[in-house]
Amino acid sequence: MKIIAVIGAGTMGNGIAHVFAQKGFQVNLVDTQEKALEKALSTIAKNLDRQIKKGNITEEDKINTLTRIFSYTSVHKGIQEADLVIEAATENSVIKKEIFTEIDKLAKPDCILASNTSSISITQLANCTNRPHQVIGMHFMNPVPVMKLVEIINGQQTDTKTIEAIVSLTKILEKVPCVVNDAPGFIANRILMPMINEAILALQEGISDAATIDEIMKLGMAHPMGPLQLADYIGLDVCKNILVILQDGFNNTKYAPADLLIQKVNEGKLGIKTGEGFYTYSV
Ligand code: CAA
Repeated sequence: MKIIAVIGAGTMGNGIAHVFAQKGFQVNLVDTQEKALEKALSTIAKNLDRQIKKGNITEEDKINTLTRIFSYTSVHKGIQEADLVIEAATENSVIKKEIFTEIDKLAKPDCILASNTSSISITQLANCTNRPHQVIGMHFMNPVPVMKLVEIINGQQTDTKTIEAIVSLTKILEKVPCVVNDAPGFIANRILMPMINEAILALQEGISDAATIDEIMKLGMAHPMGPLQLADYIGLDVCKNILVILQDGFNNTKYAPADLLIQKVNEGKLGIKTGEGFYTYSV
């Protein structure tokens, strides 16, 4: 594989573009919003600067990485030549299904179509295409340049050749592939989101304050961030949506989002990106 198209230039899309371009792949970054593409490129440059500061890469590596990224405002330009398309658009199944239907028509016959979805069924996305055996989940973690895990999700029809290709590719990125079967929330979010929700319930019930709950999980369980800080980092709207997918997918109210989470989302307090969630931030 030489050319990777990434659809969606948000936090995950720009991180995915960053790591592929850094490893020598041409990246076609597609987003309908010109502004999102500009922001993505400046974020990638900023994150490459962090790596220079740490002495991990040189200024020349930064320039080479950035010159491998091409941005497009239409899928009609960035997709045709790609060997792999990774969809990292907004976490909405209707939008994702539309994208899969469209990219299936444009991509080369041997191109693999992957989704960075955090919880939407890969089998359902695959069923929107005429190549369900070449559709797979490639769930990167945020911040993508730092986190080692790529959760790889097999749809019901994903074939062995596709899984092997994506596992090898993940290793080229110096990340660790963990292969799982399609199920609501896969593994990462099936376990992470109930933990975050439980922390929110404990806060809601007044068992302790946010900082203490986070401190307990950081110091007691050696987590790099406490669950409430992590929820702010991920986005409270994202957490709520994933919990709803778990609740509906398993038809089990144990996954029901905490009232306090719903309240924060309704108030537009979505975490770091809006300047307030369980903590406040300068934006
Ligand atoms: N790009 C590049 N490098 C970055 C970066 C970025 N966006 N963010 C941080 N870094 C680098 C820093 O430069 C630093 O590098 P060195 O190790 O070489 O010094 C390193 O990462 C650590 O960063 P900091 O010193 O700034 O801060 P930290 O030690 O507090 O770590 C963190 C920050 C890596 C985010 C850490 O707090 C952490 O691991 N948090 C948990 C993150 C997590 O759980 N992510 C998964 C979220 S769930 C998800 O993504 C999936 C989903 O579906 C919801």
